[in-house]
Amino acid sequence: MAVKFKTRKRVEEIAPYVLGKSIAEIKIELGLSEIRKLSENENIYGCSPSVKAYLSTGGSDIYLYPDGMAQELTEKTSEFLNVAPEQLVFGNGSDEVIRLLTRAYISEGDEAVMADVTFPRYQTNVFLEGGTPVIVPLVDGVHDLKGMLEKITERTRMVFVCNPNNPTGTINGKLELLKFLEEVPQDVLVIVDEAYVEYVTTEDYLHCIPLLGQFENLIVLRTFSKIYGLAGLRVGFGVMNEEIATQLRKVKDVFNVSRLAQGAAIAAIGDQEFIEECARMNEKGRNYLQAEFSKMGLTCFPSQSNFIMVDCGMRGDIAAAGLLKHGIIVRAGTLLGYPTTVRVTIGTETDNQTFIQGLKQVIAEEKEESHGN
Ligand SMILES: Cc1ncc(COP(=O)(O)O)c(C=O)c1O
Repeated sequence: MAVKFKTRKRVEEIAPYVLGKSIAEIKIELGLSEIRKLSENENIYGCSPSVKAYLSTGGSDIYLYPDGMAQELTEKTSEFLNVAPEQLVFGNGSDEVIRLLTRAYISEGDEAVMADVTFPRYQTNVFLEGGTPVIVPLVDGVHDLKGMLEKITERTRMVFVCNPNNPTGTINGKLELLKFLEEVPQDVLVIVDEAYVEYVTTEDYLHCIPLLGQFENLIVLRTFSKIYGLAGLRVGFGVMNEEIATQLRKVKDVFNVSRLAQGAAIAAIGDQEFIEECARMNEKGRNYLQAEFSKMGLTCFPSQSNFIMVDCGMRGDIAAAGLLKHGIIVRAGTLLGYPTTVRVTIGTETDNQTFIQGLKQVIAEEKEESHGN
């Protein structure tokens, strides 16, 4: 192109987001009839029948703008979570709520403390606003809360804690996280991302929403994209004190959550039986996979989520490419800071068994090849 437009420096410095190939493309390329997408931590069981029923009847009013305040969804969610409606801010996915937080609270030169490796959108959004992401490595796949506390300076505006963490699936224990919340200076926002909270089964987990009254600087992120199965519709939200919520509403797009997304989320939150059943099946799959890894002599991070990061003892990108030939898409840990791992979404019983069979073959082939060389 002849003309070079003057882009903001921070935007130029960000690498374009590389999306994986579509299922349709992979099917054609590899001549496969069936693909198991176990790479994005979506709900493998889809969404509640109530959502499907809503979507099959809804839609006649889409010529109308959505409710910019998402009032009915706010009401239903506030009842479900036992918080005031004013404490809720909905976004086009929780991804948008992260962006609203950095838009409202990060200025040039501000710092935000976060783990490495964690959900990458914290870093991108802080950087885009001119802030400095201050990165603290995980220890054994878990947030180093003590190390993060030590990185807080007078320039720190926010701290991100992803609990359970993506990509490792690990959590920080109750007492440790509570102590952290008590020790973070009150003018520093603590953003606890609970995107996978519904999959947690351990007793040693600190649910942060009940603590909002105690910590004014606490913000909890939730999403309808994971266990609620609405990733394609884009709805997430933050729960926080009313003053912060007011600031975020000032910077959000007016009609940020579509009419269909709001309706589907209302139907989804009304069917908690579906959520409990998905969590139960996920736990079964998680136990199965962890037991199989152990039999194979492989280690994995202890997951409290709907995905597991497993060390396959070979390059993760090669393992992922090998699994793809079996029709299984996983995320290689190569770009996630754990080069000998893959992150796999826990699937149905058949998905999990197919994944284990595929992984066994891929590892055996790699061994054969390295002996041959
Ligand atoms: C930890 C975490 N937070 C937030 C998100 C964003 O979810 P969404 O924007 O779909 O609500 C994801 C998605 O993968 C995630 O893993």
